[in-house]
Amino acid sequence: PFEVQLKSTGAAYTIPVGVTVMKVLQDAGVFVPASCEQGVCGTCLTRVLEGVPDHRDQYLTEEEQAANDQFTPCCSRSKTPTLLLDL
Ligand code: FES
Repeated sequence: PFEVQLKSTGAAYTIPVGVTVMKVLQDAGVFVPASCEQGVCGTCLTRVLEGVPDHRDQYLTEEEQAANDQFTPCCSRSKTPTLLLDL
């Protein structure tokens, strides 16, 4: 498990194993645009301000993934205990 924190509200949410960031945020009433939910379309792309995403998408190029400044919350996870998101 890891946490995501939202810049706008400061609220932090625990992401359990087997549950997506998108699902946790949507259940909490946080709007995240979604389409494929499989890491293909890029609709859900979200800016990452702190932390290192564990990229599981096929949308970003290797170079974009390595920049660690955005990720796809429909499928990607975190390598660090917390991700600070620009939401
Ligand atoms: Fe398509 Fe996340 S919804 S990449």
